Amino acid sequence: MTIRRILTVESDLATLKQVSAPVAAVDDDLRRLMDDMLETMYDAPGIGLAAIQVGVPQRVIVMDLAKGEDAPTPRYFVNPEILWASEETAPYEEGCLSVPEIYDEVERPARVRLRYLGYDGAQVEEEAEGIFAVCIQHEMDHLDGVLFIDHLSRLKRDRAIAKVKKAARAEAA
Ligand code: NI
Repeated sequence: MTIRRILTVESDLATLKQVSAPVAAVDDDLRRLMDDMLETMYDAPGIGLAAIQVGVPQRVIVMDLAKGEDAPTPRYFVNPEILWASEETAPYEEGCLSVPEIYDEVERPARVRLRYLGYDGAQVEEEAEGIFAVCIQHEMDHLDGVLFIDHLSRLKRDRAIAKVKKAARAEAA
């Protein structure tokens, strides 16, 4: 497994805005990508990562919502689709490995029903709520080139990007 570079809005905004393509087959090459993504996410550390965040425009997401000392519970989502979303929404303070150091509240459907292919290529349908619902919707946005800051007001989004750029400049200095 290889830790890959995570793209950020500071240097890779155009790539992050790309719409990712559906995966044709869940094969060993794709599993290698998912293994690398998981390793990269754990190293960051983060709880979710979309393939475009390592520069691969394919509809693939990895996630692990295990807390603290709990055993790791990696999850893989290939070609995920939302079949249903609740009218009820819930706010959550989101962050993103591609928008470092920025956290802000986003309102999303509280529950969603999903269909996707797993690590073995088998189709799964399940309902998500709580942090799982937040995370899968955040990651699925990445597949369509949407960042969580795109859900904020224009002012807040511009401020967030300026802050990331300023931090990157400070780090480079
Ligand atoms: Ni993100």
